[in-house]
Amino acid sequence: INFCTPRERKYILEVLVNGLKRLEYRGYDSAGMVLQIDGGNSTNTDNKGPPIAVIKQRGKVSALEEKINSKKLDFEFKFSTHTGIAHTRWATHGVPNCVNSHPQRSDDNNEFVVVHNGILTNYKSFKTFLVSCHNYEFESDTDTEVIAKLIKYLWDNRESETIQFATLVERVIQQLEGAFALVFKSRYFPGQCIATRRGSPLLIGVHSKSKLSTDNIPILYSSCKNVAKVLDAYVMLFKGQFFPLVPNNTYVESPILLPSYVLRFGVKELFRHTFLLVTQNGESEGIEFYFASDASAIIEHTNQVIFLEDDDVAAVVDGALTIHRVKRGKSTESTTRTVTSLQLELQQIMKGNFKSFMQKEIFEQPESVVNTMRGRMQWEEQRVVLGGLMDHIDEIRRCRRIIIIACGTSYHSAIATRQLIEEMTELPCVELASDFLDRETPIFRDDVCFFISQSGETADTLMALHYCKKRGSLTVGITNTVGSSISRITDCGVHINAGPEIGVASTKAYTSQFTALVMFALMMSEDRFSKRKRYLEIVNALKELPEKIKEVLTLDAEIKKLSDSLYKKKSLLVMGRGFNFATCLEGALKIKEITYMHSEGILAGELKHGPLALVDVDMPILMIVSKDNVYTKVQNALQQVVARHGRPIIICENDDEESVKYASHILKVPHTVDCLQGILTVIPLQLLSFHIAQLKGLDVDFPRNLAKSVTVE
Ligand code: G6P
Repeated sequence: INFCTPRERKYILEVLVNGLKRLEYRGYDSAGMVLQIDGGNSTNTDNKGPPIAVIKQRGKVSALEEKINSKKLDFEFKFSTHTGIAHTRWATHGVPNCVNSHPQRSDDNNEFVVVHNGILTNYKSFKTFLVSCHNYEFESDTDTEVIAKLIKYLWDNRESETIQFATLVERVIQQLEGAFALVFKSRYFPGQCIATRRGSPLLIGVHSKSKLSTDNIPILYSSCKNVAKVLDAYVMLFKGQFFPLVPNNTYVESPILLPSYVLRFGVKELFRHTFLLVTQNGESEGIEFYFASDASAIIEHTNQVIFLEDDDVAAVVDGALTIHRVKRGKSTESTTRTVTSLQLELQQIMKGNFKSFMQKEIFEQPESVVNTMRGRMQWEEQRVVLGGLMDHIDEIRRCRRIIIIACGTSYHSAIATRQLIEEMTELPCVELASDFLDRETPIFRDDVCFFISQSGETADTLMALHYCKKRGSLTVGITNTVGSSISRITDCGVHINAGPEIGVASTKAYTSQFTALVMFALMMSEDRFSKRKRYLEIVNALKELPEKIKEVLTLDAEIKKLSDSLYKKKSLLVMGRGFNFATCLEGALKIKEITYMHSEGILAGELKHGPLALVDVDMPILMIVSKDNVYTKVQNALQQVVARHGRPIIICENDDEESVKYASHILKVPHTVDCLQGILTVIPLQLLSFHIAQLKGLDVDFPRNLAKSVTVE
C-alpha cells in the first residue's frame, strides 16, 4: 500500500494489519510487515536512504499485531511511516518460523525487501550462483530469499547510476521461473513500491479521496501524432473516473491540456512502456493505491480495481502509478488494463452473528443457490440461460468430449454432476487437475474443457487451463471470484455468484458449483425432445431447492447432539453410491479438513473389495441412502455392514421406512430429484464436521496446514 497523503500516514499500520486479517484465510502460519520510515525523523547514517523496518512473527496475524503494538515499536516509529507491505504465509519452502516468513530481505540493512506469493522452480541455481560465486549468505530456507538477493546483486552491479527500481524488478523477473506475485521496497527508492506477477494473483485498488472535476486542470504531458487516440484515452479516463490508458502506439510530442490528470512520463519513457496508466497527481489530490492478492483485503477502502496480467510491472513512484509489461517471447497478450468496479461489500466478508465464517456460509446456502440461479432460470419459460456461455453454446454442443478439471471440493462438484452431464449431453467427462497434468492427457481442438474453482486461482487448475488452451480446446471457467485468473483466461464461463467464501473448508461454493453445473446440463439439452421430461423434472426441482435446503438446516441441533458421540472417535467412514458418491467424498473431506479425524468417502459398490474389513461394532459409519436408481444396491451395502455388527448413522429421505430399521441414528432430509439430492445430503455432513471441530476446540476457519487458495503447484 502506498499512501500518498502525508496526513494519512498514521493509518498505514492499521490498514496493513486489517488487510492481512482479511487475507488470512489464504495462509496463516506466519506473518510479516515492512514499513518505510520517513527520513526526517529517523537517523540515516549510512547513506542508503531512509531505513526500512521488518517485523515478523510466527503464527496468525493477531500475533504479529501484538508484536507491533508491543512497546518495542515506539509511537514515533508508527506515526512516521508512509509506505508498507504486509504478508501472511502458507509455508511451501521452509518450516513456518520467523526467519522463513516474509518479507525476505537482501541483507542486514534491508536494502531490498520483498514479499512473495507463489513458488519458484529455479531458485536453487541462483542460490548456488550467489553463494558460491559471490559469497552471499542466506538466512532462510525459502525460495523467496533468492529474489531479494538477486535484486541486490543487480543493483550492486548496475551499469548506470540512474537505473530505476522498476527496471531492476523487470530484470529480476526475467530470470525467474515458476509462479509469483511480488511486491518490493527498497531503501534506495523511498516513496516507491513495485509489484509484479506471473501465475499468482495480484490486483491494484485505486481510491481517490477527492471528487474528480473539470475545475482543476493539470496538464497531460502527452502530445501525439495521433491526437484522436489520446483523446479517446481521455474520454475513457473521464467517463470511468480515472482509468484510462494510453494505447500502445500513442506518440508524445507536445503538451496538451486535459482536466485532472498528469501523465508524468516523457517521450522516451512512453516508448519503453507498452502502455501507461494515466493518474491524477497523487500528492496533491490524494490518490491511494493498494496492491493485494485479493479484493477482500482492500474492499473497505475501494471497490475500484485493476487486475494485473502476467509479467505486468506496476510501479507507484511518488504517488503516481504506471504499469508496463515485460516482453517474454512472442507475447501477443492484450495491453489493455481496465478498471473494474467490484460488487463486493464489506459486510459480505464479515462474520455477522455467526461463530465462524464456515458456519455463516453453511447457513447462507438457501440464498447462495438462489443467487447462482438468479436471472438464469427463467421459470415461466422453463428455460435456463447462462449468459456467459451463450456465444459458445453451439460449439460446446458440437464438441467431442467435455473435460471437467478441478481440485478439492470443486472437483467433488464435478463428480456430483458428471452423471447428469453425461446423461443430458451424451458426452463423457471429469478429471482431477493435478493427475490430469501428471498424465499429460491428450487434449484436442474439439474438446471443451471446464475449469471449476471457487477462488479462480488454484495453481494446478490454472496450469491445466494453460495446457488445454495451448492445445486449442475451448475453455470454460466456473468460478466464484470475479476478475480471478481462471475467469479471465478462459474463453467463456459462469460466475456462481455464491458471494465471498472465507472459511477454508468450502461449503456454499460447493452447492453453488453443483447448481451451476446442473444448469449447464439443462442448457445443453433444452432442444432435445428425448430429454424433455427429465429436463422439466429438474427445472421444477431447482425451483423448490432453496426451501428444501432451509429444511435440512433445521437438523442443526440434532447434528450437534450427534457430534457429541463422534468427536472422540479416530475415524469416520462415509458410504454411498450413484449421485451420492460425491457427497461421501465431500463429506469425508470436510471431516478431515476441519476435525483432523481420519475419514474416507467410500463407493458402496467397492465395500466388499476391501473397506468391509474395517467394519465392526466400534467403527463409526455414515451411510447415505436415496430413493434413486441405486437404492436397492445401497440397501445391499447396508445389509453387509449390519451383518458385520456395524451400526450406521443413516442420512436418508423423509419417507424411507426401510433404512430406518438398521440405523443407529437417522438424519432425514427432504426428497428432491435424484441428481440434486446430493445438495441436500451434503449439508448434514458440513454441519457435522463443523460441530465436531467445535467440540474438539479447533479453529474451523483456519484448519492447520491448509490454505483456502492454493496458488502453488
Ligand atoms: C484448497 C482448499 C479447498 C478447495 C481447493 C480448490 O485445497 O483448501 O477447500 O476446494 O483448494 O480450490 P478452488 O478455489 O480451486 O475451488
